[in-house]
Amino acid sequence: MGSQLGFEVKAKDIGARVGLLEVGGKKIETPALMPVVNPKREVLSPRELAEEFNVPVVMTNAYILLRDEELKKEALDRGVHELLGFDGVVATDSGSFQLMQYGNVLTSNREIIEFQNKIGSNIGSFLDIPSLPDAFRARAEEQLDLTLERAREAKAEADFIVNAGIQGSSYLDLRARAAGEIGRDFRLCAVGGIVGIMEDYRFSDLVNIIATVKRNIPLDRVVHAFGLGHPMVFSLAAALGCDLFDSAAYALYAREGRYLTATGTLHLDNLGYLPCCCPVCSRYGLELKELDKDEMVRELARHNLHVSFGELERVKQAIHEGSLWNLLSVRLRSHPLLLSALESLSEHGEWLSTLDRITGKSSFYYLGPEAEYRTEVINARDRLRRVDSERTIKMPPFGDVPLELTSIYPFVSYMSPDSVEREDVYAPVRDIERLRAMMDYQFGSGAGSLIPERVRIKNSRRTGRMRWVYLDGELIASLRASDNWIIPKKELALRLHERFPYPLLRVSVDDEAKPFVEEGRSVFCKFVLEIDDNLRCMDEVLVVDTDDNLIRVGTLHLSPGEVRDYGRGMAVRVR
Ligand code: GUN
Ligand code: ZN
Repeated sequence: MGSQLGFEVKAKDIGARVGLLEVGGKKIETPALMPVVNPKREVLSPRELAEEFNVPVVMTNAYILLRDEELKKEALDRGVHELLGFDGVVATDSGSFQLMQYGNVLTSNREIIEFQNKIGSNIGSFLDIPSLPDAFRARAEEQLDLTLERAREAKAEADFIVNAGIQGSSYLDLRARAAGEIGRDFRLCAVGGIVGIMEDYRFSDLVNIIATVKRNIPLDRVVHAFGLGHPMVFSLAAALGCDLFDSAAYALYAREGRYLTATGTLHLDNLGYLPCCCPVCSRYGLELKELDKDEMVRELARHNLHVSFGELERVKQAIHEGSLWNLLSVRLRSHPLLLSALESLSEHGEWLSTLDRITGKSSFYYLGPEAEYRTEVINARDRLRRVDSERTIKMPPFGDVPLELTSIYPFVSYMSPDSVEREDVYAPVRDIERLRAMMDYQFGSGAGSLIPERVRIKNSRRTGRMRWVYLDGELIASLRASDNWIIPKKELALRLHERFPYPLLRVSVDDEAKPFVEEGRSVFCKFVLEIDDNLRCMDEVLVVDTDDNLIRVGTLHLSPGEVRDYGRGMAVRVR
């Protein structure tokens, strides 16, 4: 059972996505942060959270409600939304956190599921067992088996969207097995048992756990990182494909006088200045320290949330403009152990590079040695092998880049501490040679030879750059102004189709979709039969029918893996 969960991807960068989640008719933009409300000890009420932060979703604890006679009665009588005074999406947790803290809880999986059914949780959890990091292996395994049994019970009994916990301690093979099972049965998958890992700043383990989970669930699953509420890891977790976070930290930290920043935690006692200009910090300044305890906790909690939501906006903007790596390079230098996460990311670079886009508008900033394994670099180096050129320029970490390619992403906007003057690089190459090398780079070795000497290239009057390519009076390609990417028209597409055998460059669609695609409508994932794995998100692709007849050309808006895993949504925008 369970209600429907919609998820639509709006922008992608590395493994991250900006998406639109739809829960019971209500929309939540992701990556999203669910502030946790403790119904017995509210620091800020859900009403205040809605008014000040416009939050579309909060998380509360069903176990706490169940164990308090008054709250239990009220939740059962009026529902959890009325109890909280919140008409957005309400997620509830099951008591697993208490299980982790105290070793046992006074409820059963069935009882807590039924309770969440009755109080009207939009999103709920079963009683997964968060094994501790480095738990005795046999124990972690036993706890995982019980967790998976409880997941099956939830699958049968829950009327809410199940936030399905994936456990397995620090054992990556257990995580992989758990992810495989949970990912098959649930659309909202939660990386669980990572609170201790976070508290100990074991960021390298965090990367390996999240990456292992992501690699073993279908790519269309929405991913929640359970208990990940510190803004300093939002960019990292988002880059690995997490869509949801929950924060009890904003309130728990406030009680201890801890002041969150996007680069770490400070203590109010140690503050001589306030490195923030949120409404709280602007209003009080250092007098924040002089407030009486309760008010100080409330105001500090508000500050902590302002910082958290501020960082989330920064992450979304980075995804939107394709500069998430730049943000990671800065954020992961905030602590030596975060630097270890940067190293661990390198081990997942090949996988992440299959998810990333191949072109974009943002600048490529060299910001340190991690550039070696940035996803753009892995993808670009791979494509550089397709291009043969004698005239190259050194662009670490890409290596020797043909001069013919300096006007396209990521080389066009390359900036390093010893960047050369761009005009000098651009000058000496003939347009047709540039075009041929770009063809090889975009489509494969030999694509450049499809451009005969007699083509006529028209340049933009404004920028002087190539814009249109004509062959015998017919327009065969245009170049996109934003990234100089080649957009083939019918004639050039036919030549590519002839030059490169099936399944190269292709997305094949079933017969049902063919007439729609012929009309110029988008190709939806569910109609795709096969897709070339060498393609990348934002590549120009050949859309073909089951007999490999060329139907149209279009832009791929997902990675090949995503096209396979996504049951719905657009795969190719056809021209
Ligand atoms: N809160 C923090 N970690 C967890 C977890 O692993 N599972 C659940 N259900 N809640 C949590
Ligand atoms: Zn502040």
